[in-house]
Amino acid sequence: MTYARFSLLDRREFLTKMGAAGAVATIALNETGSLFATAPAASPISLPPLPYAQNALAPVITENTISFHYGKHHQAYVNNTIKMIAGTELEKAGLEEIVKRTAGRSDQASLFNNAAQVYNHNFFWDSMKPGGGGEPRGKMADKINESFGSYQKFVEAFSSAAASQFGSGWAWLVQEGGKLKVVKTSNAETPLTTSAKPLITIDVWEHAYYLDYQNRRADYIKAFVEKLLNWDFAGKNLV
Ligand SMILES: [Fe+2]
Repeated sequence: MTYARFSLLDRREFLTKMGAAGAVATIALNETGSLFATAPAASPISLPPLPYAQNALAPVITENTISFHYGKHHQAYVNNTIKMIAGTELEKAGLEEIVKRTAGRSDQASLFNNAAQVYNHNFFWDSMKPGGGGEPRGKMADKINESFGSYQKFVEAFSSAAASQFGSGWAWLVQEGGKLKVVKTSNAETPLTTSAKPLITIDVWEHAYYLDYQNRRADYIKAFVEKLLNWDFAGKNLV
């Protein structure tokens, strides 16, 4: 065995270098002095289970789209985030902390982009439910009417923001200063880094709708608002 010839100093140096390289798995010494690899340390960052089956939003969003969007795109953002924080001071940080601490830092742009996309997608899956959409009831209805004048005015503002986001990004219903308003963000940007509290979001990256709607983003937005929007989730996010 090659490692049996390592001196203790060699082994310590090797362990130090492995740590500096940010290895996810841990190389350790057992009681006999032999090197062995342990299982990767659990990360606080993970891909949460979808709140419904992958075919539950069809035909508005098909299982095919969800399988790529959740299983490939979202999973990749999670994997990238875990790799980038390994061995850094953010290794044990929660997702929201990572997003907030890397926002606006050019030297952390890649980590911010991936972590914020994990956060935004977590939020997006919860923003939809099978049989959702239509007018809210109760307190949410009151807040919508107070802030926009009517449900229809909210639909116009939200749909317009989602449709006019140039390129990739997101439209959001947020709460700020006691009122609701609509904002849009580009790429991975998120209201989490602002004073506004996110209530609902729609993903308008092409990967969210292109397999089902091709270039017809407006049709995707209309279907989201009328058939999927999860007002229960929005209500839980109200301050
Ligand atoms: Fe997405």
